[in-house]
This record gives sequence, structure tokens and C-alpha cells, in this order.
Amino acid sequence: MEKIRIQKVIADSGYCSRRKAEELILNRHVKVNGHLALTGQKIDPVKDVLTIDGERIYYQTKKEHVYLMMNKPRGYITSMSDDRGRRCVTELLPNLDVRVYPVGRLDLNTEGLLLFTSDGKFANDMMHPSRSVSKTYRVTVRPDITDEQAVKLSEGVMIDGRVTAPAEVRVLSKEPNRVVMELVIREGRNRQVRKMCEAVGLEVARLKRTAFGPLKLGMLKPGTCRELKPEELRAIRGAVKKPERRRK
Ligand code: URA
Repeated sequence: MEKIRIQKVIADSGYCSRRKAEELILNRHVKVNGHLALTGQKIDPVKDVLTIDGERIYYQTKKEHVYLMMNKPRGYITSMSDDRGRRCVTELLPNLDVRVYPVGRLDLNTEGLLLFTSDGKFANDMMHPSRSVSKTYRVTVRPDITDEQAVKLSEGVMIDGRVTAPAEVRVLSKEPNRVVMELVIREGRNRQVRKMCEAVGLEVARLKRTAFGPLKLGMLKPGTCRELKPEELRAIRGAVKKPERRRK
């Protein structure tokens, strides 16, 4: 059989994305036939024994990938497992024949749309910073929002030493001491919405992701999952900006 790069074999098996696989190789978690794997190493995926932390990884040629949408409730971490005993989103998944993992993450107290897949390439495409998939959040802030704060959020604010890309801000409702707005961002920086709000002096009381590109959370019950429909899968694939070809 033709030799294939280890990170591709790992990603195709559904264990994790190709990028994460590269990290695992670098951090010495991966072995081939009992020897530490090297980045870029090619293997015969059928004959060679590939393990990650002792767990055998099997090559999958023709696979049916799984694509799920979850309405993540508050109080769950976006992780496969947790050594501190915190509740993990994986506890909410149905029984599946394949291993799926989350596409990106939502904070412990963020709720809403979280994708899961067994398709490492899909996950990579969705998360890659150059692909700019929009993420829509419903943000409840206190006490009020001024026009100036909304403009700042939309034009970009400094977080972690870098200005955020332009965002769309729409105030949905105003009550005394509480404003609900919709925020659409195209980056996926760590705790980005909370940090953006903090940077302009707004306190986030509630944060919910309501859409991921063209995918809408809709009425999906908190703590439950559903498979993406074929037309949704086509739409999200189409929404991912393709990397620009380098001119020769
Ligand atoms: N921005 C945040 O601050 N938290 C999330 O979970 C997602 C986006």
C-alpha cells in the first residue's frame, strides 16, 4: 500500500484534526511500530502499527463521516475528558460507531451551537483562521450599551495585543439594566466575545452562539444533538473561504 503521512492517517481515522495530530507527534505521544514517530514520517497505514498514548489507531479508507450540531448548555467544558472531574460536552453525545470531536470550542459558560465531526479535514477547514467562517452570538450585556461602545465593537478593539477584525453589531432588545445584542465575528480567538465586551466596558451576563456560518441553531433543545442535513453540509462547506492560490 502507498505510504501516507502519519498526521493524515490520524486525521482520517477521526482521532483529531491534522494540526492536532502534528502537535501530538511533536509532543511524543505517537509511535509507529513501538518507536516514536517523526513529523512528516510516512507509513504503510495497513501494515504499520500506529499508536497514540498506547491506543491503536486504525486507518479508515472509505468512511462515512459524521457531522453533528449540539446545543451546548452552560456548565460543560469543550473537551473530550477532564482530569478535574468537570462535565464535558462529550457526555451529551449519542452513542456513535465513530469517534467525533468538537470543531473549535465554547467556554464553560457559553451555550449554543457546537459542531462535532469525525472528519479531520472538515474540522481543520472550519477552524483555520484564514477561512473566516462567521460566528453569530447572542450576547446579553449589562447595564446598557452606548452607540460609542457598539461602534468600537464593530470597528475593532484591542485584545491580547491585536485589534479584532470588523464585526457586525445589532442591538436586539433593551430593558432596564440589560441589553441583548447580536454580534457576528469572523475570527475565533480565545474568549473573543467576552474579551471584546470587556475591552469596551461591558459585562457579559449571557453568551450563546446561535449560528456558525450558514448553520442555525434554531430550536434544538439544550443538551441535545442532531445530524447536519446534506444541504446544511453543502452550505457550510461552501461558506468556507478557500485559501488563495500562490502565484508562481
Ligand atoms: N467568545 C467567547 O468569549 N466565548 C466563547 O465561548 C465563544 C466566543
